Amino acid sequence: MSTEHTDRFDAAFHDIAVRHERNWMFIAVTMIALLFIAAVFLVVHDYGVVAKTSAIYSDPNTPSTLADFQGSGVRQTGPDSYSVYEIGRAWSWTPGTATPLQLPVGARVTFYVTSGDVLHGFEIQGTSINLTAIPGVVGHVSYTFDKPGTYYIICNEYCGAGHQAMIGKIVITGRAQA
Ligand code: CUA
Repeated sequence: MSTEHTDRFDAAFHDIAVRHERNWMFIAVTMIALLFIAAVFLVVHDYGVVAKTSAIYSDPNTPSTLADFQGSGVRQTGPDSYSVYEIGRAWSWTPGTATPLQLPVGARVTFYVTSGDVLHGFEIQGTSINLTAIPGVVGHVSYTFDKPGTYYIICNEYCGAGHQAMIGKIVITGRAQA
């Protein structure tokens, strides 16, 4: 009798344990799935954090010959918005290194970035801007400069002997002085 009682208790306990385990497995798998979907959603929907590709050319030299990349490389596209066409070359940023970029505070700037030779890393310190400059590819990223000051464009991908000196300058001027 006592043995049968124990068996019944064991069976009931087993059933409950199985139910609990199934529930918790379901909760854990659901959480993983939700996290995965959220991560994909964030990447796909950008939010200005992820750089996007504007164009890919079969000839890696094409972007540097495009009209937008000639001259100052800066186009005003609205009252507070600008496009900046940036070429990385060993070992300078154009515009930025020879001629510092000057933009007013509050400017919404879209950077179109390419490379004229090898891979470079386009990073603007103190901002979320960080994308790879690739020959034949134009990537873009937008950013609003809310604070006046000097920002430095650095190269964060090793590109040869002058890599550490591949620095450009962006001067964000206050509205009063602009
Ligand atoms: Cu360009 Cu490192």
